[in-house]
Amino acid sequence: MLQYITCGESHNKYLAAILEGMPSGLRIDLEGIQSELARRQKGYGRGGRMKLERDEVEVISGVLNGRTTGAPVGFLLANKEVRIHELPELFRPRPGHADLDGSLKYDSGIRAILERASARETSMRVAVGTLTRQFLKEFGIEVASHVVQVGRAVLEDGKTAFAQLKKAAASDMNCVSRDFEAAAVREIEIAKKKGDTLGGVFEVRVQGAPVGLGPHVHHERKLDGRLAQAILSIQAVKGVEFGLGFATAAHYGSEVHDEIFYDAKRGYFRRTNRAGGIEGGMTNGEEIVLRGVMKPISTLIKPLRSVNMKTKKPEKASYERSDISTLPACSVIAEAVTAFEIARAFLEKFGGDSMTEIRRNFEGYRKQIRRS
Ligand SMILES: Cc1cc2nc3c(=O)[nH]c(=O)nc-3n(C[C@H](O)[C@H](O)[C@H](O)COP(=O)(O)O)c2cc1C
Repeated sequence: MLQYITCGESHNKYLAAILEGMPSGLRIDLEGIQSELARRQKGYGRGGRMKLERDEVEVISGVLNGRTTGAPVGFLLANKEVRIHELPELFRPRPGHADLDGSLKYDSGIRAILERASARETSMRVAVGTLTRQFLKEFGIEVASHVVQVGRAVLEDGKTAFAQLKKAAASDMNCVSRDFEAAAVREIEIAKKKGDTLGGVFEVRVQGAPVGLGPHVHHERKLDGRLAQAILSIQAVKGVEFGLGFATAAHYGSEVHDEIFYDAKRGYFRRTNRAGGIEGGMTNGEEIVLRGVMKPISTLIKPLRSVNMKTKKPEKASYERSDISTLPACSVIAEAVTAFEIARAFLEKFGGDSMTEIRRNFEGYRKQIRRS
């Protein structure tokens, strides 16, 4: 079973992860992992920290001569800002953050909570996710994303071809359209002037997933459920939808479901993809399309009302150096966690100890599908 665990705090010495369940024989592209980490750090509207450090991860186990061995893969990333023991304790919890609830639950100060609640931890999820993404690529499965909304700036054309998403990866805001990118930056500038923050929406797409990843039989393994969990577990993400998503509520069934066709060359196919590539908790062979909504960042230069936990008197919430809007980063993290979940479902279906074995299983299934 593919699984991982991360550890580390925002300003502690290291961040680390252990990825267990990767087969042997996968060529690992360390440069590719570094460049995804760099993508996670970019975007207009970030706080000062992103300019301070360039993440560089080390792979400390599970790889020999550039290929996975089948043993757990260890990732280690040294923080350049190691200040956890110098940073002040906070007493005025920030609304929308883990500060108050975490410090009550764990009977601790706010510092201990925010250091782990911080999205700094997602650098490990990007490292792990990128390796699983390299695994998926071996089987023709690719993951991409783009930002489709920042505050009131919305990408007009919601239907972007997968190939166009490469353009987004090259843009600072992970946008496919220059006009939309400029509008998004304007929105962030307005928020910045007001001492406020902004959220938005990102879209993740998966191309090339075969029919039948994820089961309809086990509630906890349904692919849409797992992907939703993975996306919602990203800090500040508050909603997720697949395909037409929430808009299906305003349509008749005949306008929502994707009709089935057959062609001797292509096999079964659809002409529409309103389901977003998943039916009954399983992939249906179409592109997977999901969107996540990120709330505005909760640390505000002009803070909201809170309570001083020492005096119990009303006071404004604490302020720490913070981002204003991080949609591009969030979409890169979403790509990574999506890749992990697709790889997990893929390994559950075609699993084996080595790439050779998995390739054989995959080819056998492809032949079976062609005959069905
Ligand atoms: C890439 C990324 C960067 C973030 N940066 C900040 C930040 O600088 N300041 C902040 O208050 N919250 C930031 N957040 C959001 C908080 O980590 C998050 O709101 C908090 O942990 C509470 O969790 P919840 O919003 O999921 O309930 C960021 C989130 C992401 C995904």
